[in-house]
Amino acid sequence: MKVIIKENYEELSKEAAEIIKEAIQKKPNLVLGLATGSTPLGCYQELIRLYQKEGLDFSKVIIFNLDEYLGLSADHPQSYNYFMQENLLNHINVKQENFHIPLGIIKNIEKFCQEYEEEIKKAGGIDLQLLGIGSDGHIGFNEPGTPLNSRTHLAKLAESTIKDNSRFFEREEDVPRFAITMGVQTIFEAKKIVLLASGENKADAVAKALEGPITPQITASILQKHPDTIVILDQAAASKLKGKY
Ligand code: F6R
Repeated sequence: MKVIIKENYEELSKEAAEIIKEAIQKKPNLVLGLATGSTPLGCYQELIRLYQKEGLDFSKVIIFNLDEYLGLSADHPQSYNYFMQENLLNHINVKQENFHIPLGIIKNIEKFCQEYEEEIKKAGGIDLQLLGIGSDGHIGFNEPGTPLNSRTHLAKLAESTIKDNSRFFEREEDVPRFAITMGVQTIFEAKKIVLLASGENKADAVAKALEGPITPQITASILQKHPDTIVILDQAAASKLKGKY
């Protein structure tokens, strides 16, 4: 793992966008794995700027998102599909048919999860996966206890995640309790991974993921074994690391 510590969130976001830009310039039909949540927002704003001001071309880029809340339709304002449209896709020239995200309303969950895996495989696998990290050390919705060899599956949200994510909902009761998520192994198979963490409330999870044992209790810890992972932190998120980076 390569660890980069930036002064603040803005610098972290620019660094992440720069890595994505270089990857697209190298491979215009990049298969890009993306995340939702607060952390990647600054990176998405910078990608939009790079498209608008520098002509960064997303026309051949293929996107696979990590996860979606179960029970929310694609046009629900709190769905991750809606989030991606509002915060990135509506502002760049990515083709809608090249955007993949799990559905929130599905009849046969198991079949859907297998098909999502197939689609990733058919696209040639994920070249670059962008990740955030939960305060409980999760990546995607792979909560503590999720097997490290898991693939796309139905996940039950941990209580801490429900609390963390309630800021996006009117009431805590409105936060869906389940989600469809890429599994730990699905994420691990991405050729390159960029994990972002910002703020003091991520410092514990970051320290455990980077310097603790590799364990299903902190699913991000699997990244210690990944051959090409870059972790970009701001000072606050890095504040509990013991090593020198
Ligand atoms: C989002 C996702 C989650 C978030 C994590 C951090 O698609 O998969 O793992 O990355 O919960 O969320 P924020 O960035 O809101 O702190």
